[in-house]
Formats: sequence, C-alpha cells, structure tokens
Amino acid sequence: MRLRILATGLSGGIGQAFAARAISHSDWQVTRLLRQPSQPADVCFDVTWSEERMRGALGPVGTVDVLLALAGADILSAPLRRKPYADRLEALYQVDIHGTVKTVRAALPHLADDGIIILMGWDQAGLGKSGESGELYALAKGALTAYAKSLALTLLGRATVYTVAPGWVDTRWGETLEAPQKQRIAAQTRAGRWQTPDDVAQVLEALITFPRQLATGQVIYVNRGDVLPS
Ligand SMILES: NC(=O)c1ccc[n+]([C@@H]2O[C@H](COP(=O)([O-])OP(=O)(O)OC[C@H]3O[C@@H](n4cnc5c(N)ncnc54)[C@H](OP(=O)(O)O)[C@@H]3O)[C@@H](O)[C@H]2O)c1
Repeated sequence: MRLRILATGLSGGIGQAFAARAISHSDWQVTRLLRQPSQPADVCFDVTWSEERMRGALGPVGTVDVLLALAGADILSAPLRRKPYADRLEALYQVDIHGTVKTVRAALPHLADDGIIILMGWDQAGLGKSGESGELYALAKGALTAYAKSLALTLLGRATVYTVAPGWVDTRWGETLEAPQKQRIAAQTRAGRWQTPDDVAQVLEALITFPRQLATGQVIYVNRGDVLPS
C-alpha cells in the first residue's frame, strides 16, 4: 500500500533534501503544497491563505497518511532581514505559527487514522539565544512546539505528532554567507559544524517509518548534541 505524504515547504533546503530521500521509497507518494507549483501533481497553496481557502485547495487531495509542515519564514535573508522588528515578528506569525496551525486544521479531515503530523521547531527555542533574530525565532518556534504538544494530546490514539527541532542548517540563508561568517557560526556551536539539509531529511524519513504513537508529542533535536534538551 502507498504511503501518502502531504507537505509544505518542499521547495526549501530541508524540503528538497526530504524530497530527494522520498524518491528512494517506491511506495511513497509525496504531494507538494507550493506557492509556485511546477509539476502537474503539485497543489497551489500559500500558508498565509485563510483556512477556508486552504480547505478548498486540499479538496482534491484525498486521504493522506502524513502531513509534513515545513514552511517557514526566512527573516534572516532579504527582504525581511532589513524590515522592522514588528514586521519580522508578523511574518513569523503569519507563516510559522498561524500558517502552520491553519495548514494542520485544513489537512486534518484528510489525515488517515493513525496518521502522522510533523512540525518544525528550533533547537534553541526553549533555551534562549541573544539578539533580535534569536528572540523572534524563539517566540515563533517556541509557540509552535507548545502547540504541537497540546495537539498530540488532542489527537491521542488518532494521530502521532512530532516537532523536529534542528540547529543551524545550511539552507537558503546559510548558502548566501561568506566562508568566514559561516565558520564563525560553526565555531559558536559545540558540535563545531552546521547541519546539512540531508541530516534533517534523514530524521524526517526515520520518523515517518518509526512505530506510530510510541513517541507522540516529542521534540526531536537534530543538532549532534549541540544543545541538549532540558
Ligand atoms: N535552516 C535552519 O537553520 C533551520 C533551523 C531550525 C528550523 N528550521 C525550520 O525548518 C523549516 C524548513 O527550513 P529551510 O531552512 O528548509 O527553509 P527555507 O530553505 O528558507 O525554505 C522555506 C520554505 O518555506 C516555504 N514558505 C515560506 N513562506 C511560505 C508561504 N507563505 N506559503 C507556503 N510556503 C511558504 C518556502 O516556499 P517558497 O519557495 O515559495 O519561498 C520554502 O519552501 C522551516 O520551518 C524553518 O523555520 C530551519
């Protein structure tokens, strides 16, 4: 039987790495929810849409086994990078928080019994990181992580919910940095290195095949022990 996966954020760094891994599973069928669809099977979808509009877009999708909600606002790159604090907070609210919650609510009627929902957190959300970006990402990803824990309880016995919380992953923003800045960031981590998008994709792949319900509500840190969860 095919495993049907519905996913936002597959045009991003982690998303593309996940899609590359998914290809090796001949029994996986991945439906991409994208702002700019490029293949016939893609569904046009923007997480800032209303929940009602999302429900309409998901209408033809049918039943799915996994919802992978990877979409996230990049406040470190242009144009958001230079926007005022409140604008960056609003972007994270619209995409990472409200956007993810609406996606989950719109997709829930499609989720098969014993399905899986995976949301994206951040390894330092609960520990604190100085600076405006640290404050802002902590706000957004901390809220999402807390939401996922309650969602897991709401859906207990019906679906398995995880939060995957990576550290520094070399995706869109990382790729724009000069080597010295990249090395400085790596040196600030205990592990001494960035995570690759494939590191995270590998964990997503493993969670999809992990026995369901045993670890529902858990936050999975992907950072080589750089920040140990409390
Ligand atoms: N990279 C890291 O260091 C890191 C660390 C911790 C957590 N995370 C989280 O992991 C997830 C994936 O990260 P990434 O680094 O792969 O991100 P990325 O390369 O910046 O890609 C972001 C993805 O989100 C999509 N997206 C943004 N706004 C959207 C909207 N309004 N509607 C629909 N899709 C939207 C983008 O689509 P478009 O192609 O249309 O822009 C893209 O697919 C994010 O939630 C991020 O916060 C990343």
